[in-house]
Amino acid sequence: MDSNGDGIGDLRGILSKLDYLEWLGVDLLWLCPVFPSPNVDNGYDVSNYCDIGPEFGTLADFDLLLAELHRRGMRLMIDLVINHTSDRHPWFIESRSTRSSPRRNWYIWRDGRDGAPPNNWESIFLGPAWTRDDATGQYYLHLFSAHQPDLNWDNPEVRAALCSVACWWLARGVDGFRLDAITHLKKQPGLPDLPDPDGTGCVPSYEAHMNIPGVLDFVHEFARESFRRHDAIALGEANGVSSAQALEWVGTGRGPLDMILQFEHWTMWSSHPHDPLHVPTLRRILGKWQQALQGKGWNALYIENTELPRVISRWGDVGTPRNQSATALATMYFLMQGTPLIYQGQELGMANTTFHDLSVFNDVFSRNRIEQMRAAGQMDDEILAELALTSRDNARTPMPWSDAPQGGFTTGEPWLPLNPEYPAVNVASQQQDPGSVLAYYRKLIRLRRQEAPLIDGRYVEICKRNRRIYAYVREAADGSAIAVICNLSPHPASYRHREWILCHPDLLLSNLSVAPHDDTHSLRLRPFEARVYRVRRRTASD
Ligand code: GLC
Ligand code: CA
Repeated sequence: MDSNGDGIGDLRGILSKLDYLEWLGVDLLWLCPVFPSPNVDNGYDVSNYCDIGPEFGTLADFDLLLAELHRRGMRLMIDLVINHTSDRHPWFIESRSTRSSPRRNWYIWRDGRDGAPPNNWESIFLGPAWTRDDATGQYYLHLFSAHQPDLNWDNPEVRAALCSVACWWLARGVDGFRLDAITHLKKQPGLPDLPDPDGTGCVPSYEAHMNIPGVLDFVHEFARESFRRHDAIALGEANGVSSAQALEWVGTGRGPLDMILQFEHWTMWSSHPHDPLHVPTLRRILGKWQQALQGKGWNALYIENTELPRVISRWGDVGTPRNQSATALATMYFLMQGTPLIYQGQELGMANTTFHDLSVFNDVFSRNRIEQMRAAGQMDDEILAELALTSRDNARTPMPWSDAPQGGFTTGEPWLPLNPEYPAVNVASQQQDPGSVLAYYRKLIRLRRQEAPLIDGRYVEICKRNRRIYAYVREAADGSAIAVICNLSPHPASYRHREWILCHPDLLLSNLSVAPHDDTHSLRLRPFEARVYRVRRRTASD
């Protein structure tokens, strides 16, 4: 929400929407980076860790937002981007100035090889992961864009400086951190070349810098010296951590973090963005994470974020009945064991936006991809077709608050065009409609709060071979249990009660209206229909 008409959402804008968040039932707000930043990567390129970017407000606004959240019993988690800084951060400016700078070793500098970069790693945002700096003739490493030089975590001074940053925000009263790109802090010692069988010169390099042995030592130290000294939450963005390794990160009494954002179901989509949802694969991946942390750790649950296109455009159905796919997908992930996160606009069932031409893309990855595809001779319409499906800008459009011009988000020109669907898909209209996606999210949140099995209950997979239905039971230690049954396909699907039978009163929630008693022995689920029942284990006397 933009409070001053400059087209950019800001802290006072968020402050004006706390009633909405409270009404919805949100209890922890995760704020994307609002530090001073040239915004090459939407604030994930920080140029000063201990201040607020002027376009977002002031430290006084931040304190007010925090106080107002706390007054309402809500918490605030901020996004710490500590794998890299902006190239405008004073540390980097000093580091690049001369080879003998005391901060030279705060970043990762190497000599080139005959006019080529020090090794053949590709950046996550495409192109070489190294940029030559004219001032000294050496190259610096950047796993993301060239404007996001990687900090040298092997240097204890760097680690201490970043700890001080975290402590500074903790002292200000923040309740925790989302730790950006935290599995990339450690690079493979020696920064070796990677095999390049096709001789392309620059190859995807995750294996050389993602979840490399030693990274956990950094995270443990950071935890010990900062947020573990406070009652603060830590959520790590943990690309490359498998469910088998998860306990080392979030195991109770063992891992340095409270939760991690795992990437497996994300990768499942990104490696096949054209394919419809394959329910058995999703069940295998999410089920594995549920089992791995059962009783020993805690999951972070998500189906959208700033990186992913909207979930109903990826896995749902944006035609009729669109609300059904939004609410069915919501039910599927929301009632698993863990903390469900909602990305702004997801609660409205927003779909991907519409891009008319390549000039509207703001996201740095999308822009780099355009250049790369153009250089490979691809035509604009091919590029647009790919990005319409995959671009991060799909989900970054401003929040549509009402059907007023610009969705009520701003009185000026928004920094990114609104999703053109805002006259129909917006907060105000859905708040009045008991059948809306928003109303459904509100019910989900309440249900999760009211029903103990949904918090602590074991996750028991049922209906294991169904290709359309994702179903599971949450079973509490006292035997009380809740079944979550979601048809995630655009086709009808059937479900039979087997080892779990319905209890009365049974139906706790459904995203379509259910006629009484049509569910006693089996369920005939309509496309994207989801139901939540109170159940019990079948016994010999049943
Ligand atoms: C993470 C963030 C992403 C950002 C990147 C670099 O992946 O989620 O938005 O671009 O890190 O900081
Ligand atoms: Ca503003």
